[in-house]
Amino acid sequence: MHDAVLLNETVAAVLGVKSLPKAARLQAGGIYVDATFGRGGHSRLLLSHLADDAKLTVFDKDPTAIAVAHELAATDSRVQVIHDSFATLTGSLNALGIAKVDGLMADLGISSPQIDDGTRGFSFMRDGVVDMRMDTTRGQSVGQWLEQVDDETLANVLYEFGEERHSRRIARAIKQMDSYESTLELAEVIKVAHPNWQRGKHPATQSFQAMRIFINNELGDVDSFLAQSIEMLKTGGQLAVISFHSLEDRRIKQFLQRHSKGQYPEDENLPMPPKRPRYFSKPRRIGPSKTEIADNPRARSAWLRAATRSDVIVSTN
Ligand SMILES: C[S@@+](CC[C@H](N)C(=O)[O-])C[C@H]1O[C@@H](n2cnc3c(N)ncnc32)[C@H](O)[C@@H]1O
Repeated sequence: MHDAVLLNETVAAVLGVKSLPKAARLQAGGIYVDATFGRGGHSRLLLSHLADDAKLTVFDKDPTAIAVAHELAATDSRVQVIHDSFATLTGSLNALGIAKVDGLMADLGISSPQIDDGTRGFSFMRDGVVDMRMDTTRGQSVGQWLEQVDDETLANVLYEFGEERHSRRIARAIKQMDSYESTLELAEVIKVAHPNWQRGKHPATQSFQAMRIFINNELGDVDSFLAQSIEMLKTGGQLAVISFHSLEDRRIKQFLQRHSKGQYPEDENLPMPPKRPRYFSKPRRIGPSKTEIADNPRARSAWLRAATRSDVIVSTN
């Protein structure tokens, strides 16, 4: 199972309300997207507040998540399912005849069932082949990539996506392995190569995170999704994104800051146009409560950032 993080806060944000009513259901109309269905925790609560004629389109890269989404769609005709990356947002929605949406949410990263299933290769605590793909139907596994990558490129990935300061020596040790058939062996090699262990944190944590982010193009997908949210959200529509590490959170924060302040264009060397759009309202940041962290330790690093799509034009002069 997967305990949905910041559940009420995120669904309230997508629906554009401060908090969800306790006793009543909202019956909101419109078209909504859950870009990361997982096991559908957020989708199910969102559906319970949607009117009968509302629509919810869900995305996931993972075939096991998509199987669960199809089960839900079979019992709820408001649900449409897309097995693809949320980086295909505009094209996938347009193909369903959807040009604009009222609310867009994403709960980034991996789900508990993905980590708990050792055969997926995400965990350094459970044995399995070194795969780590979210979408097991396409692309290269981490093991296949490790077979052919050179030491320097591997070290750069560990540094860039895992902020691993000992990336070079870890990369050299990984490249000396005979095969990448076992996540526990890989974790052990990283552990031995790692010069200092922080208490309470497995020395392979950052390296595993880095390889997973790289092989799934996680940051590139997030950038693409955010950029497309401008086009896909109606004026007054809501964007809500949960992230679990600073590499992602920084991107979301900077994107929303840029587009809520009307700082445009991105390249400072280009001349400033006389009128600049503010595509989003002032963003909000919401973290988990102490109770949620106590109930679900996965929530401790989560941040929800949310904003309303606006079409205010500011004059540069
Ligand atoms: C944290 S879980 C979401 C959990 C979900 N909110 C729930 O309540 O069950 C993240 C999910 O997003 C999916 N995912 C990650 N990156 C994706 C992407 N670029 N496109 C589509 N799905 C993605 C993962 O496969 C995983 O199932």
